[in-house]
Amino acid sequence: MSKRGSFIVVEGLDRSGKSTQTALLLARFEAAGIPAKLLKFPARTTPIGQMIDSYLKSHSDLDDRAIHLLFSANRWELASTIEHLLGAGTAVICDRYAFSGIAFSASKGLPYEWCRAPDVSLPAPDLALFLDITPEAAKARGGYGEERYEKEEMQRRVGEIFRRIGQEISDGGGEGEGGKWVGIDAGGEKDVVAREVWAFVEPLARGIEGPLRRLWP
Ligand code: TMP
Ligand code: MG
Repeated sequence: MSKRGSFIVVEGLDRSGKSTQTALLLARFEAAGIPAKLLKFPARTTPIGQMIDSYLKSHSDLDDRAIHLLFSANRWELASTIEHLLGAGTAVICDRYAFSGIAFSASKGLPYEWCRAPDVSLPAPDLALFLDITPEAAKARGGYGEERYEKEEMQRRVGEIFRRIGQEISDGGGEGEGGKWVGIDAGGEKDVVAREVWAFVEPLARGIEGPLRRLWP
């Protein structure tokens, strides 16, 4: 039986280095001759993505629940693309996914379970890497503060909820429907972080025998 592609998600606070690390990870796959595709959420170019982009740049205002559902709908728009890629043996790397959806909206005070509901039965990643950085260190990086959620206090709450999500996944045996969750110290040099990322991804990089799982337990 031929293997399906592996589904890798990279999560973290704003300015934690996700864009850099997902690009380096894609390059690693390419160097190893493994087909891989990098996706990013929010995917800002679709019609829903354009509404999200406008909201994040504070060009428009939306009810907290409405924007939450748009972020989720933006993932559903690409769910079948993800499934097809994985089925064709291509690895999928995602810069943010449903975990960001929960962490950012719940940090605004929306109920955790409500935040999780619209993402139920999306394709589940095989591995979620959480790039762990303090809100202070993130703030010190360039460009911070340009978009709506880039405020230290909010990022602190977001970080706490990411940790709760990670804990729940790990408590579920680490291989539950949320995939395996791994925290990585993202405060260091990008090459050091990249090596650690690859150490976790490499065992899955050449594909997976089992079926694709769904979010959530
Ligand atoms: P980005 O900086 O990775 O482009 O993400 C834009 C912002 O959107 C970031 O502050 C995280 C936030 N976000 C949500 O609030 N919900 C979501 O579902 C996603 C994917 C991102
Ligand atoms: Mg950002």
